Amino acid sequence: MKKYLVAPSILTADFLNLKKELDLLQAAGIKYIHYDVMDYHFVPNLSFGPKVLSDITNNYDFKIDIHLMVTLDKYTLSDYLTPFLQKNVSQITFHYEALVAEQIQEFIKLCKTNDLKCSLAISPDTKVSELTPYLADLDNVLVMTVYPGYGGQTYLPEAGKKIAELQKLKATNNYHYLVEVDGGINDATYKIVQEHGVDMIVAGSYLVGQDLMTLKERVAKLEN
Ligand code: DX5
Ligand code: ZN
Repeated sequence: MKKYLVAPSILTADFLNLKKELDLLQAAGIKYIHYDVMDYHFVPNLSFGPKVLSDITNNYDFKIDIHLMVTLDKYTLSDYLTPFLQKNVSQITFHYEALVAEQIQEFIKLCKTNDLKCSLAISPDTKVSELTPYLADLDNVLVMTVYPGYGGQTYLPEAGKKIAELQKLKATNNYHYLVEVDGGINDATYKIVQEHGVDMIVAGSYLVGQDLMTLKERVAKLEN
């Protein structure tokens, strides 16, 4: 029985060889793909949007875990999210820092209406306590273990306490969310997040760009 959910981030893939990379992830038995959307406003980087996503969802059965690192700017939440509501998208994460309280409540409602798992992410400088009003309604909390924006960064150890704090709050209050981490997970750091009580592990550079044998071994480490 696998103990942890594993979602490879394709942000660090060679985009000219994305199909090859997705085929490898499929062959390694991967169920979830972590899809990082960046807008050059919330983070100083730009990635991909609904078009690349539909190319993936139309051709693969992966469940999609969307991580929106964006500001809404002139868009309503509903207008922004609609193009991402595609087949197999199972969870959407918005950054807590990118929304005001009213928008967070709207986001929770929109996820419920569309039968999506609702997730909020916190960047390294945000405290778990800021999420208190929303925890009962969340299906997932994404603890960023690096500053959002790039793959291949170094794990920030302060994140461990947040994972443990979230698990404690969950047990005390009977909440139902999972705790996910994202950033800097590799051979040395996966154990740390597992020991702190993580449920779902995102890994980009550690999993993408490997041959099948190595990939399978790495996935098995993160899953068990
Ligand atoms: C960073 C992204 C991550 C990133 C992870 O802002 O949200 O999902 O791709 O990449 P690694 O695992 O290489 O840190
Ligand atoms: Zn991410």
